[in-house]
Amino acid sequence: MIGVFDSGLGGLSVLAAIARELPQANLIYLADTAHVPYGDKPDNFITGRVLAIGQHLADQGCKLIVAACNTATTTAIQALREHLPHIQVVGVEPGVKPAAQGSLKRHIAVLATETTARSKRLAHLIDTHAAQVKVDVVPCPGWATHVETLQPDTPAFRAEVEQKIRPLLDAGVDRIVLGCTHYAFLIPIIEPLLEGRAQLVDVADAVARQVLRLRGDSYADGKISLQATVHPERLSAALPALSLNKVARRVASVTQVSV
Ligand code: DGL
Repeated sequence: MIGVFDSGLGGLSVLAAIARELPQANLIYLADTAHVPYGDKPDNFITGRVLAIGQHLADQGCKLIVAACNTATTTAIQALREHLPHIQVVGVEPGVKPAAQGSLKRHIAVLATETTARSKRLAHLIDTHAAQVKVDVVPCPGWATHVETLQPDTPAFRAEVEQKIRPLLDAGVDRIVLGCTHYAFLIPIIEPLLEGRAQLVDVADAVARQVLRLRGDSYADGKISLQATVHPERLSAALPALSLNKVARRVASVTQVSV
């Protein structure tokens, strides 16, 4: 069993990639919907949630846990590894390295939650992989919550996105990293603004390949269990709305969990 978690719907973008790579694995997706968003919460609160969720997934038999959340990864992945030393833990971090490698103009941007944007871990990632590249870190407060509405495409939100993206393009940014898993569901809004001047960088497929490398031996009946700390029915309703019909076909149960 492989466990995947996020504060809400964002990690479904990672779950979908894992489900594609491992069609026979049994997967649990846990959304901490009682506490979404994580991106504006204090670090100690996020760490407490990550440890509790990790334990809950381990208790259900998960041998590998994916923190499908940049905010949880930057804040608490180390604590989770120490808490569960016998479980493989995979995190999701902004794709600074591929963006820096691909940038011809040597100028990239990272869109992220406030917590990720100010984290030491992101600063370290940039120092390690993008020291020779200009990096604009752009906090996007409210964007993850907006994705949770499942109707992100409003004129007001489009205008807000444009206000963030246009100055980046004008400054010469040619790679824009989606540093929050929720933002994958904003690609239809962001992409048309780019007019070919920049490419978006999302790491969901790379994370899924890493999970395949670690647990390619996961042959079960390919079932997905959806769990949420409140309103689990919103998770199953979200799948068709987010064009995740292949994931929807594998869902075997939808439950509320108390974590
Ligand atoms: N999807 C998460 C991330 O990748 C968390 C967003 C939030 O809850 O603020 O950062």
